[in-house]
Amino acid sequence: MGTVHPSAEPEKGSQRSHVSMDSDVSKLANNLVTKIHVLMRISQIYDSKNVALDQFIKESLETINTLIKREGAFSLKIMKDDFFLNDQRLRYSVEGFTSFKYLLTQWKKRLIGEVIFRGSVDERMLREFIYALISLEEGREENAALFNKQLASRDITSIEVNPLELSEDDEEGVTLEKEDPREVGKKVFFESIGTIKEVITNIKGKQHSDIRKLKRLAQKAVHLVVEDESILLGMTTIKNYDEYTFNHSVNVSIYSLALGKRLGFSKKTLAELGISALLHDIGKSKIPREILNKPASLDEEEWALMKRHPLMGVEIILNLKQLGEINPRMVIGIFDHHLKSDLSGYPKLFRKKGVSLFGRIIQIADSYDAMTTPRIYKKTPYTPEQALAIMLRERTVHFDPALLKIFIGLVGVYPIGSLVLLNTHELGIVYKPSHDPRWLDRPTVIVVNRDEKGDVKKQLVNLAETVGEGRYKRSIVKTLDPQQYHIDIAKYFL
Ligand SMILES: [Fe+2]
Ligand SMILES: [Fe+2]
Repeated sequence: MGTVHPSAEPEKGSQRSHVSMDSDVSKLANNLVTKIHVLMRISQIYDSKNVALDQFIKESLETINTLIKREGAFSLKIMKDDFFLNDQRLRYSVEGFTSFKYLLTQWKKRLIGEVIFRGSVDERMLREFIYALISLEEGREENAALFNKQLASRDITSIEVNPLELSEDDEEGVTLEKEDPREVGKKVFFESIGTIKEVITNIKGKQHSDIRKLKRLAQKAVHLVVEDESILLGMTTIKNYDEYTFNHSVNVSIYSLALGKRLGFSKKTLAELGISALLHDIGKSKIPREILNKPASLDEEEWALMKRHPLMGVEIILNLKQLGEINPRMVIGIFDHHLKSDLSGYPKLFRKKGVSLFGRIIQIADSYDAMTTPRIYKKTPYTPEQALAIMLRERTVHFDPALLKIFIGLVGVYPIGSLVLLNTHELGIVYKPSHDPRWLDRPTVIVVNRDEKGDVKKQLVNLAETVGEGRYKRSIVKTLDPQQYHIDIAKYFL
């Protein structure tokens, strides 16, 4: 592997010295990951001359060459489980997760850890690069060297690869610990979304669904919540409009777990609650998309169908192959989740019955998440504060008042993800509520500032901090609507 250049090299030509990545570059890099993902997938189906590739090749070239123009040379590199563009870690979006995961697995299998683009690339080069990449034998140590030779023999000098670094030690610039709970949290979160999507797709296609994976993920989530609930609670600020059902299921599960933890549930009960919450809307998989995503209000017939989703959910669960993984408590939680304490909800019951504890927990989590998420029929969602106020108003009819009180304590006076104005005229994003009941109104916030160059600077600040004689350094003046300030809250939790 003597011809391989050190990975730091492409950086030298670049003039970028500041730490935060230009958001355009970050967008381009994310785009590149998606494009390479698509190209690798298509090239496994079609031969290299096939026209099916044309459009994607063209688009990928545009992205690569724009990056070359802006960055000089650039490198896309795997370190641990992340991608770095010129030593800046790429943050992936919910939509980008599949591509990241695909590229990570495929490159790792082939022991390729880095691709360097040194100069402009044309269509022929990119086609040959992709086909050479997918035809590498998995697990062969010499892959990178062989690959480079192959590229050179075809007169491709502007693309080069480096082997995957398998070292256990932290590389410079990487401060992640082996099991950084935030990284684990992110993985559990996105994997849960992917898995619930899989389960729902299988059910729609009348295929058997393996819910054991969901169980494992719920167990991992329980561990995380027991350790530090704020990690997963922060993830619930990712409100993905297009994948509402999947995102919503995972969020409801996180809120339910955090509530269950406050109630002193055992890990086993928590895992059951987590699965029940993940599956609470599974019955909606039997409802046509047009009805679920209808921008106008539903007509009577559509409503009647919609109201059947808890019952259809129970039916689906009882038909699962691994029914052994399910217990009655979990099924009743799904059945109950729209049944109000005054029986005004649904399904309609002939006999009066109390709502189960799982059902009452899921209800609160469900309403809060639904209200704070933009939907096709309500594009501007309620702020966390507004949602809690509405729920409080309806507490005696719709919710268990005692549970609701605990829930409010849990999401905080200022819930995680709220945008707040500080008395220093700075904007802050609530990151973590204080565990000390004396400082419920003094969470830790991310203070967002812009420097002279216009780059965003973030600083983690505990609002309980004082400057001499008990004077607080910063205090919250009021909450603001992030939509009005064009702030994407979720970005601060990834
Ligand atoms: Fe529901
Ligand atoms: Fe729901």
